[in-house]
Amino acid sequence: MTEFDVEVVFEVALKAVKDAGEIIKEAFYKKKSVLTKSCDVDLVTETDQAVEKMLIGRIKENFPSHMFIGEESVAVGEKCDLTNDPTWIVDPVDGTMNFVHSFPHSCIALAVLYHKDVHIGIIYNPILEQMYTAKCNQGAFLNDKPIRVSEETDLSKSLVIAEFGTNRDTQKMESVLKNVSALMNKVHGLRAMGSAALNMASVAAGGADSYFEFGIHVWDIAAGALIIKEAGGVCLDTEGGPLDLMSRRMICASSEKLALQIIPLLDQLKLERD
Ligand code: IPD
Repeated sequence: MTEFDVEVVFEVALKAVKDAGEIIKEAFYKKKSVLTKSCDVDLVTETDQAVEKMLIGRIKENFPSHMFIGEESVAVGEKCDLTNDPTWIVDPVDGTMNFVHSFPHSCIALAVLYHKDVHIGIIYNPILEQMYTAKCNQGAFLNDKPIRVSEETDLSKSLVIAEFGTNRDTQKMESVLKNVSALMNKVHGLRAMGSAALNMASVAAGGADSYFEFGIHVWDIAAGALIIKEAGGVCLDTEGGPLDLMSRRMICASSEKLALQIIPLLDQLKLERD
């Protein structure tokens, strides 16, 4: 059986994420070389690739038997298979569009799973120096200080995050607009920060009350799922069942009571799984 010592893995992961942050900081205000992936607004930069390469190297060096799922590796044809083995799931730059525009809401999102459960979640915005961390059953932290979700349970008083995503397919755009229209006059405010992981971190820290998205991938949400749970919140499937990390849809909230007020209002866009 593979040995999995969460404290040892966390130390290596944290150091790797801090070093990745230096790569992002160094490139942040410079001109970027940008390529497109699935469509004109699905972007990748040299920094996304450099961070992912560095993280893969760290894993190989320290835990050669661990598995890896990374956004940019999957983009060039690697498999996205989640097994029971210890698996690092990485979005090297979440909020790539923000990064390209030097809009300071981009982060590294890293989760480590064992037997398909998230044991470690780290989300780091190096520009604003925000380091969110969680280990299973040990609480959630922002820059080493404990964080909690908000106490809001009333939809009409809630700040809800609804992203536009990185796909301009007609059906997807219509679905996004339906959800925005359905919620707009029922909430205190709607927001879109441009980074799924930072949206989830904001819910965990109590700054926003809920966030949902159709079209996200496992690397966008795995780290945030643990951080939210450890901060006292919930992450669910958009139809209300348990969250399936590979299903490409998710709603998180400060409480199940709040999530259940949003779920009936959502257009349930059907998507292919990761
Ligand atoms: C994207 C961002 C965006 C979300 C998309 C993600 P990327 O990730 O998190 O906010 O709406 O669904 O794909 O491409 O910047 O890593």
